[in-house]
Amino acid sequence: MDHFLYRDGALYAEDVPVSEIAAAVGTPFYVYSTATLLRHFQLFDDALEGTDHLVCYAMKAASNQAILRTLAQAGAGMDVVSEGEYRRARAAGVPGDKIVFSGVGKTAREIRTALTDGIRQFNVESEPEMDVINAVALDLGLVAPITIRVNPDVDAKTHAKIATGKSENKFGIPISRASEVYAHAAALPGLEVIGIDVHIGSQLTELEPFRLAYEKVAELTEQLRSEGHNIRRLDLGGGLGIPYTRSNEAPPLPVEYGKLIKDTLGHLGCEIEIEPGRLIAGNAGLLVSDVIYVKSGEGRDFLIVDAAMNDLIRPAMYEAHHDIVAVNEPAPGTEMQPYDIVGPVCESGDTFAKQRNMPPLKSGDLIAFRSAGAYGAVMSSEYNTRPLIPEVLVNGDQFAVIRPRPTFDEIINRDTIPEWL
Ligand code: LLP
Repeated sequence: MDHFLYRDGALYAEDVPVSEIAAAVGTPFYVYSTATLLRHFQLFDDALEGTDHLVCYAMKAASNQAILRTLAQAGAGMDVVSEGEYRRARAAGVPGDKIVFSGVGKTAREIRTALTDGIRQFNVESEPEMDVINAVALDLGLVAPITIRVNPDVDAKTHAKIATGKSENKFGIPISRASEVYAHAAALPGLEVIGIDVHIGSQLTELEPFRLAYEKVAELTEQLRSEGHNIRRLDLGGGLGIPYTRSNEAPPLPVEYGKLIKDTLGHLGCEIEIEPGRLIAGNAGLLVSDVIYVKSGEGRDFLIVDAAMNDLIRPAMYEAHHDIVAVNEPAPGTEMQPYDIVGPVCESGDTFAKQRNMPPLKSGDLIAFRSAGAYGAVMSSEYNTRPLIPEVLVNGDQFAVIRPRPTFDEIINRDTIPEWL
């Protein structure tokens, strides 16, 4: 459920007409709903009620500080994967002891920053990384809290580019070697081993892969405990999928996911962390764009819109489907017609949708890409020297620009020309 609904024939973001934001900030832009962000966070938090837990929002999904602060004020922790994300979370007001640091390639510098400024735990992904965390911690006279990410060799049944839990993926240590690796970690004085981490992929639309992975984690917890490790925290990653189309069968709900967690792991008495990103931010955001031209091609019509692949890369990168709607609600009985919806970038891959049924549209009409809140703005680029587009946050009847559109001068003046030219 989200808070982008038609009212009196016009699409609203909560209580603000989308067209009013477009008039104020220009197109294209991203707009997020505070109520949807909070609702989705709350669904997870409620799903784990009765267990000691922390919902660490995977901020890679949408990392604007206004979004982070909104969630942090509701009690969320953060899952970060780089020094930049760590610093951003801190700048948004998230305390270090609510930040978990994931990622396969943390550098010594990143580790030092997080250890110095405070971190809940590092989710360690390899033995060489473990050795570096140990060395940095000893150098700082600190002890680094860690979990070790295990790769359970489970098929997440999602797009290959976002599956992470199979043995051929680069993530975690093979679960079969866990005993050995935990023994290695326990022998390092700069580390305190507190738990186990697992994340098997993103946009999972079934619970079964989670069940298989969490059952393996439960077994491993008991085994490691019997080997003398004080396993007291389980980080279960993110990955629960969202409905990208209204017609599709809906993925499982957070409450069902929470029940699965309790069923498979509840008996262990561990503190539970989860790292949802997409489910919190995905349907909390729209990408709003304007039709530049309607072009009649051979046997098909193109809607050439002012958003492009640099603003929303998901269709080009993962063949992802985003529902696209007209901001002016089509009158009942309007005959739909198929369009190829494309951006202005000079690549055929700059195609958002082929033969998509839309109401008849003309130059100057606004359209909105649904489910664009996660992995939208954060994956954008300035390809074709197209400025990063503004982000807007709505809360009830108010809205604020939370990242302004840069000027062309700001972009162009970042280049420096060597003196020999
Ligand atoms: N934790 C870890 C360690 C992760 O790698 C990820 C996502 C998450 C949590 C959050 O997963 P979520 O709840 O959002 O599924 N750019 C791709 C998605 C990449 C996901 C990467 N890792 C897309 O646009 O579909």
